[in-house]
Amino acid sequence: CKSKIVVIGSCNTDMVVKASRLPVPGETILGGTFYMNPGGKGANQAIAAARLGAEVTLISKIGYDLFGLQALEIYRSEKINTEFIFTDQKSPSGVALISVDSFGENSIIVAPGASRSLSVEDIDKARSKLEEADIILMQLEVPIETAEYAASIAKSYGKKVILNPAPASVLSNSFLGSVHTILPNRVEAEMLSGIKVVDADSARRAAMVIGEKGIENVVITLGKDGAYVKEKEEYTMIPAKEVETIDTTGAGDVFCGAFSVYLSENHTLTESVEFANAAAALAVTRMGAQSAIPYKREIAL
Ligand code: RIB
Ligand code: NA
Repeated sequence: CKSKIVVIGSCNTDMVVKASRLPVPGETILGGTFYMNPGGKGANQAIAAARLGAEVTLISKIGYDLFGLQALEIYRSEKINTEFIFTDQKSPSGVALISVDSFGENSIIVAPGASRSLSVEDIDKARSKLEEADIILMQLEVPIETAEYAASIAKSYGKKVILNPAPASVLSNSFLGSVHTILPNRVEAEMLSGIKVVDADSARRAAMVIGEKGIENVVITLGKDGAYVKEKEEYTMIPAKEVETIDTTGAGDVFCGAFSVYLSENHTLTESVEFANAAAALAVTRMGAQSAIPYKREIAL
């Protein structure tokens, strides 16, 4: 029987242009082909969890527009429960403007639109799902108060909350105290710890500082360098597989979805990070966010 994961987060449509490099402020450059892809950290993580074997409910908000309707169709085809994807009549659906350079690195601006109005009342409507879930996974493209509220309810039900603190934000210790495992990337880890993460030693110090805010487990994702793990009092660096990078967009989301699925199936934290590394390595070899998400059968550990 499948484990149950509730994802709370954004649904976006990604407007992507690939170019040889990212432009500097004030500069215009010519890029390559334009792609319009489904994305959003919430939706990407939900689809990753579904493709990797979990029963997934996505709690989110879309606008009353074509992007939102298109997104719903996609989630249904991925067998995601869309019962708690609410519609905001007054805001557009979320959109992300994404530039990808020749190394596959990206820079992203998100216009959250309807995601900004996902409220604590919406979370209340989905309480029964939080109560049934094995794991609750969230990011920060929805209001922080909403995420914090959901985390506190999930914790009161004795559930494991996994937080991907993206985009980087300052978070209260009471929020962090409800989190079982936090999954920041380098930038987010620096925002939370004040320590610039450049190597294993700085990653260790950052993980320690973040841990002192009341979170037992910290996994700092380091892209092609793998992940730095603090599990209670143990610290380890878990390297990633070497692959040819085409587009890193959404690879962090695949990591979070994969990690949550494996953890919900009662694997250890380290095993879950290894599984997440393998899934993310596949995702960076393919263009796009959701189009790059692997299925369980593709992952060789
Ligand atoms: O993490 C990648 C995602 O961030 C993109 O799909 C974009 O929509 C933004 O939410
Ligand atoms: Na990708």
